[in-house]
Amino acid sequence: MQALPNIRAIPEMQAWSGRARREGKRIVLVPTMGYLHEGHLSLVREAVKHGDCRVVSIFANPAQFAPSEDFDSYPRDLERDVRLLVEERVDLLFNPSVEDIYPPGYQTYVEVEEVSRPLCGAHRPGHFRGVATVVLKLFNIVRPHVAVFGRKDYQQVQVIRRMRDDLNLEVEIVECDTVREDDGVAMSSRNRYLGPAEREAARCLQSALGRAEALVRGGETAAARIREAVVEEISRQPLARLEYADLCDPRELRLVDEVTGPTLLAVCAWVGKARLIDNRILAVPGP
Ligand code: PAF
Repeated sequence: MQALPNIRAIPEMQAWSGRARREGKRIVLVPTMGYLHEGHLSLVREAVKHGDCRVVSIFANPAQFAPSEDFDSYPRDLERDVRLLVEERVDLLFNPSVEDIYPPGYQTYVEVEEVSRPLCGAHRPGHFRGVATVVLKLFNIVRPHVAVFGRKDYQQVQVIRRMRDDLNLEVEIVECDTVREDDGVAMSSRNRYLGPAEREAARCLQSALGRAEALVRGGETAAARIREAVVEEISRQPLARLEYADLCDPRELRLVDEVTGPTLLAVCAWVGKARLIDNRILAVPGP
């Protein structure tokens, strides 16, 4: 099998990007934490439409995990990831070490304020500070023209967009739809934590979103009633524990009382050891 060009050192990555840019190439970055699945591969396939060379970064970022979270046990399988990326013919893998990204004495972090606060931000203090910091570092190191992210992590994309606008970053953000298993469960590296019964239980997120969507299609506009239906749907599943279900405006992520236009419904539930998130944009029916 053909080898995948791989860079670990930051100066080498910057030199590679500098050369590519001087040659007039458009660099597309797909940032990941590894343990790749079809969801990541769909981002890699989308990336081909937006530039000349595709760089995939694999870096499990300790700064976005709280001490109580699963950084140490987060699944990793670099050999398998490399095989998948070779099949996708990506141009380069960038997989820096933690010591290079956060060397001793490191003390600079990016805080994207309001949009980081609700939803996952309310339950994972410091998470989006870690995400924004590493994504800005990756942008500075890889210097992509375009970066591709998945909509499953809806709030993450909004945080990155806000950072891009606020800090005048010259990078285009491309979003891709969530990729699902055959039964509708959103793909996630953390699905691997689920046993067979839990895997079945994980479907409740998708069915709760579907129930909310049906309510809105039927003319319901009160966020409280839609939320109640979601809570009820998830509480019917004994293996699931709801963390949040909220309806927000899709850009600033402020809670809404009424669904009067496109509205984000974001849901998070624990099933066993897996913290699962999913979301849907609810659209009011046309006249
Ligand atoms: O979505 C992820 O995998 C991570 O949050 C990201 C964007 C690679 C930053 O570590």
